[in-house]
Amino acid sequence: MGEPILECRDLRVTFRKGNRLIKAVDGVSFGVEPGECYGLVGGSGCGKSTLARLVTRLRDADSGTVWLEGRDVTGVTGRGLRAFYRKVQMVFQDPVASFDPRKKIGQSIAEVLRNFGLAERTALRAAINGALEMVGLSPEHGERLPGQVSGGQCQRAALARAVAVRPRLLICDEVTSALDVSVQAQIVSLLRRLQGELNMAIIFISHDLSLVRCFTTRLGVMLDGKIVETGPAAEVVSTPKHEHTKLLLSSLFPVPRSAPGP
Ligand SMILES: Nc1ncnc2c1ncn2[C@@H]1O[C@H](COP(=O)(O)OP(=O)(O)OP(=O)(O)O)[C@@H](O)[C@H]1O
Ligand SMILES: [Mg+2]
Repeated sequence: MGEPILECRDLRVTFRKGNRLIKAVDGVSFGVEPGECYGLVGGSGCGKSTLARLVTRLRDADSGTVWLEGRDVTGVTGRGLRAFYRKVQMVFQDPVASFDPRKKIGQSIAEVLRNFGLAERTALRAAINGALEMVGLSPEHGERLPGQVSGGQCQRAALARAVAVRPRLLICDEVTSALDVSVQAQIVSLLRRLQGELNMAIIFISHDLSLVRCFTTRLGVMLDGKIVETGPAAEVVSTPKHEHTKLLLSSLFPVPRSAPGP
């Protein structure tokens, strides 16, 4: 394997709740290879989103470091941070909340493109439409406000905005959780296609192991702020080592109850 696109070393974040300390991220280290899909799975409150916020530089860790393509990006600000977001983009659970409600979807995509100097004025329209097309939307969707499309379409739009800059790494935090099951499958297959077409790495975060395992190459299982098990997805699912992984799997493949006796 080559150099990882992303590497985290011993990340820690503690929150204070009343007189209690919550170790939301408790010494997490992991790496993501270029072009791979890393699945991060665990129950509610185990620290997935907090970890995602550290990795995407939306919040500072108490300690530990984040490395992108071999560079320490833990404390980057200003231009360094801009360069970081040129390579790392993210999509969250609530697509509508991730857009400015007063701006048309196309305008929001244009803003990102302009921000990174990625499209000349004349080519802007084509770049917006290209991004929309990539996620299965039409130029007409770009003319609508975020509140004027369905949840699934809005999540596609959020993906369009993220991939418009051609990131090397896309972080998806519960991107299907707010959607209907049928739409979830569509979004997952869209992500798979985008991953291949754009050759980007993905960190796919979900509490839903059934979704994660069919899509990721490697898995990290989180519990109480720690990654308690990690390995190739197929291996983790077929021969889980940690009790928590077994527990997550048992809800996925419930042991059939023995038939009632005569
Ligand atoms: N800003 C905050 N202030 C205080 N506590 C927080 C904060 N953000 C998260 N926490 C706490 O940190 C822990 C981890 O939360 P986090 O949102 O990272 O979990 P999660 O795995 O993403 O959960 P979910 O599956 O429900 O999204 C929880 O106990 C949560 O209550
Ligand atoms: Mg979360």
